[in-house]
Amino acid sequence: MKNELLKKISEKSIKVGVIGLGYVGLPLAVEKAKAGYITIGFDVQAEKVKLVNEGHNYIGDVVDSDLKELVQTGKLSATSDFSFVSVVDFIAICVPTPLDAHQQPDISYVKSSAEQIAKYMKKGTMVVLESTTYPGTTEELLKPILENGSGLKCGEDFYLGFSPERVDPGNKQFKTKNTPKVVGAVGKDATEVIAAMYRSVLEGDVYEVSSPAIAEMEKILENTYRNINIGLANEMAILCDRMGINYWEVVDAASSKPYGFQPFYPGPGLGGHCIPLDPYYLSWKAREFGFHTSMIESSMMVNDKMPEYCVERASKILNKSGKALSRSKVLVLGVAYKQDIDDYRESPAIDVIDILKEYGANVDFYDSYINEYKHNGEVFKGIAGIDGKKVSEYDLIMITASHSNVDYQMINDNAQLIFDTKNAMKKIDNREKIEVL
Ligand SMILES: NC(=O)c1ccc[n+]([C@@H]2O[C@H](COP(=O)([O-])OP(=O)(O)OC[C@H]3O[C@@H](n4cnc5c(N)ncnc54)[C@H](O)[C@@H]3O)[C@@H](O)[C@H]2O)c1
Repeated sequence: MKNELLKKISEKSIKVGVIGLGYVGLPLAVEKAKAGYITIGFDVQAEKVKLVNEGHNYIGDVVDSDLKELVQTGKLSATSDFSFVSVVDFIAICVPTPLDAHQQPDISYVKSSAEQIAKYMKKGTMVVLESTTYPGTTEELLKPILENGSGLKCGEDFYLGFSPERVDPGNKQFKTKNTPKVVGAVGKDATEVIAAMYRSVLEGDVYEVSSPAIAEMEKILENTYRNINIGLANEMAILCDRMGINYWEVVDAASSKPYGFQPFYPGPGLGGHCIPLDPYYLSWKAREFGFHTSMIESSMMVNDKMPEYCVERASKILNKSGKALSRSKVLVLGVAYKQDIDDYRESPAIDVIDILKEYGANVDFYDSYINEYKHNGEVFKGIAGIDGKKVSEYDLIMITASHSNVDYQMINDNAQLIFDTKNAMKKIDNREKIEVL
């Protein structure tokens, strides 16, 4: 099986399937197709399947013309019909791994896609899980579902591995194609073949590890490292404010050290589908071993309180001008979870808006990437645009995402008060109206 697959990879005659056409799956499917592989994307959302088959892109990191050309030349197509799994040789699973209502891993999307794959996969297929998950998922959960459902044997009839997705939406320098990839598979042959498959597509290095669990754990380590360091930045920012010290200046100064320090910045909380969620996958699994991940818990406590803390600061800033938060008009700038993207999943700005409203503020939002957001079954629409007159109508402008296409000078010229939780206005000289987190 190994030599046959390596030969097919070198001839580019492998057919690729990507399960889940979201922020991770669609860019991956496009890269595989661009590398010359006939690629089929699978998604349960009929709307996404339709858009792809019409050549319409809906993910910021994908180039519209690339997608259109790949669809027109027959290199890329999409379907909700899993029976097409029978024609592919390589399958990447890129489905969501959220938390349930009790902050525990919701692995149901991985399970249901595996069940579908198992029904249709043929001998000689490579299956790779790319969704972020707890260490053990590939061998403890995925392997038995695939073996029992297909009647095939892992390592003999098909290869199975884990390769964490590292895409950083909105990153101008590192995209799917040039970001190094880690591969850990069940057995040496599987690792060699799956790594060869990624090498044939990507410019970045492919780093092989000895098991899927190592690859699963290294991904969680990456994201936990970010989570904990952001927690530290947030705690430092709260302390610095109490001591009358500007944290942003502190972190810039610390960054002048050429080794041993990496800057992390505070903000209104954690957002996105990864950093706020993934450490919980590890905490949950750790409990099976009677282990408490106390660093993660502490960091979560700090990060989870940030929206509330930011609203308290907003209230104090208004008080200093003789105004109460209740009945004040507040414009929240940015509901995306980070700058220059249109994704608001888990965005702390949405919590900030909810808390501001709880305290009786009249809140509007504006986001240059997002016109409206859905939250608790309701749709919230932003104001259509901002100009000097509009900005001047608010008692407070609260910046919660530092999009680079916003005219911050205009905001400073016209605002009454500004609370900048992201240091988006760092280049503004006259800082009389500005308070930073
Ligand atoms: N978004 C990121 O920045 C990022 C970065 C690194 C890793 N990840 C990880 O990648 C995984 C996917 O994240 P995402 O942001 O792409 O999610 P997403 O919600 O954007 O996309 C997932 C897609 O999977 C589809 N889907 C759900 N169940 C399915 C099924 N059974 N069969 C076929 N399709 C199904 C959904 O309809 C959706 O289109 C997650 O585990 C996430 O943690 C995400």
